Amino acid sequence: MASILVQQPTHPAQFRTDRDGLAFEALCDEIEHVDILADQATKQRNQSEEEQDGGNSKFDAEKDKTQFRQYENACDRVKNFYKEQHTKQTVAYNLKARNDFHTKSRAEMTIWEAMERLNTLIDESDPDTELSQIEHLLQSAEAMRRDGRPRWMQLTGLIHDLGKLLFFFDARGQWDVVGDTFPVGCAFDDKIIYGNKSFSENSDFQDPVYSSKYGIYSPGCGMDKIMLSWGHDEYLYHVVKDQSRLPDEALAMIRYHSFYPWHQQGAYSDFMVEKDHEMLEAVKRFNPYDLYSKSDEKPSVEKLKPYYMELIDEYFPTKVIKW
Ligand SMILES: [Fe+2]
Ligand SMILES: [Fe+2]
Repeated sequence: MASILVQQPTHPAQFRTDRDGLAFEALCDEIEHVDILADQATKQRNQSEEEQDGGNSKFDAEKDKTQFRQYENACDRVKNFYKEQHTKQTVAYNLKARNDFHTKSRAEMTIWEAMERLNTLIDESDPDTELSQIEHLLQSAEAMRRDGRPRWMQLTGLIHDLGKLLFFFDARGQWDVVGDTFPVGCAFDDKIIYGNKSFSENSDFQDPVYSSKYGIYSPGCGMDKIMLSWGHDEYLYHVVKDQSRLPDEALAMIRYHSFYPWHQQGAYSDFMVEKDHEMLEAVKRFNPYDLYSKSDEKPSVEKLKPYYMELIDEYFPTKVIKW
């Protein structure tokens, strides 16, 4: 602990310039592609099961296999990324990440400034990017607005990926910023992407406590108590929970949006309390806007800015927040 306290704080507004925003974005796209394939495979499987009940499943079982193979064969870069993430996300690392978050000095910016900053850091070097970060955020928010979703949810869509700024602060790599998330401190569930064997080199994998089914938790303790692998979701949740007026559903959408083993595969349900079931429904409502709004029309940042500035002010009364 002492060594953590004597560390020099990061300068409040200092961003790392040695990070490759372009490679980071390429990886984010590939991870998302795998999430989409997995989502489609799940839907396909559910549909097959329904049809099996109706007595005709042969054709869909074949299609299911094709989808699954596609997902299994997804690029090596994603597989290698997950191997590294699954090896390095330990309880010890997660405690340290949270300790750093609470003790280091942090940059101060408005939400809009953070959106612009993320845009520059990631996309500046690539004029040909199909969709900038701001555009992805606006697309998610706009799709929600079109569907008549509440204002707080539109704002959640707008900010949900701002935690990726972490990559340019003090993240150790890409593995502690993006990718599907999972609990640490208890057994890694086989429903986590690439299965629990992918954790064989994680130092917690053999730990007698951390590798037991409930580990440091107890059944029914509530998802709030679970330490989720550190990344852009968990980080942004920590940033906004005390600095905004966003409702619990919004905080859940932010915190759990990459927690696919839970919201898509139904893992870790033993830890849930009643409230978590509502939160789970909220995350499920949110997910399609994240995965499937990219094909929508390109939004006009300048035209939409006044609407969203007002929305930001409504839920972030202090305007400037600590990142
Ligand atoms: Fe995300
Ligand atoms: Fe996203």
